[in-house]
Amino acid sequence: MQPTRPLVAGNWKMNGLSSALDEAVRIGEMFSARRRGCDAMICPPATLVKALVGRVAGSGILVGGQDCHPAAKGAHTGDISAEMLADLGASAVIVGHSERRGDHGESDEIVRRKAEAAHRAGLIAIICVGETAGQRTAGLTVPVVARQIRRSVPDGATAANTIIAYEPVWAIGSGMTPTRLDVMIVHQEIRRLMSGRADAAGMRILYGGSVNAGNARDLMSAEDVDGALVGGASLKADDFLGIIAAYDEA
Ligand code: PGA
Repeated sequence: MQPTRPLVAGNWKMNGLSSALDEAVRIGEMFSARRRGCDAMICPPATLVKALVGRVAGSGILVGGQDCHPAAKGAHTGDISAEMLADLGASAVIVGHSERRGDHGESDEIVRRKAEAAHRAGLIAIICVGETAGQRTAGLTVPVVARQIRRSVPDGATAANTIIAYEPVWAIGSGMTPTRLDVMIVHQEIRRLMSGRADAAGMRILYGGSVNAGNARDLMSAEDVDGALVGGASLKADDFLGIIAAYDEA
């Protein structure tokens, strides 16, 4: 995966039994048949990572996890380490998704340690940040995201081992999206913050939150938007391919 190539990543969240693998195979078949202007990734539940890696082999589809524990191993019942995901064939892991931050009380500090764990295991860390509806209304979007970036992105983050996903919490699963200009302003701020770091030039910054085939072209055309992190619309092959089509080469 080249750091500068856009990425469309699907986050299946807690959706998908074994039967969902057929949908992923359809995505893989259609993806490999295209003139690809972007990379594509699916992050299934951990239960499907290994099977998915096998079923999409050769299609160009990358496979990622949705979360990992900061430690490599130990007495952490029910948790999964980055090393375990790498062992299954994953090449990336999402950390700090707002549903993890919200449902499991994950702080920026924990998210940073999870990103470090991903790097330790040789995985790309997809670090999520984003403001809540209340913070947005209070005009705090940029300072909130800037603080999350400063605290959640580890020192060793480079364009090769880290991807940032800007996901406004209020836009996730709601059908609402920020305007293209709003997205651009936040992405430019993230770019500016990362520009002070060694080897971070060209780091991919994805937008996530109610991306679908209808709005992808508009959102993805915003400056400093290097792809999408997609939830609901990644579950159906046609919907997901419709988003990837925003990057079809003419
Ligand atoms: P959504 O989810 O596309 O269903 O809004 C995005 C995400 O949570 O990554």
